[in-house]
Amino acid sequence: MKALYPGSFDPITNGHIDVIERITCLFNEVIIAVLNNNDKSNLIPLEDRLKLIKESTGNIKNISIESFTGLTVEYAKKRGANAIVRGLRAPSDFEYELEMSQINYFLSKGLETLFIMTNPKYSFIRSSRVKEVVNLGGDITDLVPKPVHKYLYQKMGIK
Ligand code: PNS
Repeated sequence: MKALYPGSFDPITNGHIDVIERITCLFNEVIIAVLNNNDKSNLIPLEDRLKLIKESTGNIKNISIESFTGLTVEYAKKRGANAIVRGLRAPSDFEYELEMSQINYFLSKGLETLFIMTNPKYSFIRSSRVKEVVNLGGDITDLVPKPVHKYLYQKMGIK
């Protein structure tokens, strides 16, 4: 069975890594699918996001790291995924994720979205917050993988 784990990953965090590790125990293959939406809303260019995911998941087996454009369900279908997987950090994520899973189910005529509850250790981590902390000079050491830590501080010209 193959899972598609889609997201912006701007950047990948320790919360994402935890989800990836856990879903690789449940599926034979996990495709980490990075949305390439060209709307310039991401801080990190697509190629760098892909590279950071690769560097941060080097020890995890049975994954592939890919980018996609357009609808997630179309990409899932193209790649033969059996399910989409998303992490849920808190009840505040639920409303957005519920709606997204329902439109995806409708569009795909039946592709399931499965949710995995974030490890409480990571439930407060989101990519946007990580960038804000770096920008304001805070310490993100325990929030992101090492390559991301190095990249962000260099990009912001802080260390
Ligand atoms: O990491 P994110 O930003 O929470 O991920 C959101 C993502 C990429 C999964 C979502 O925006 C998405 O699936 N975008 C692709 C377009 C799409 O299929 N939208 C849903 C139907 S309109």
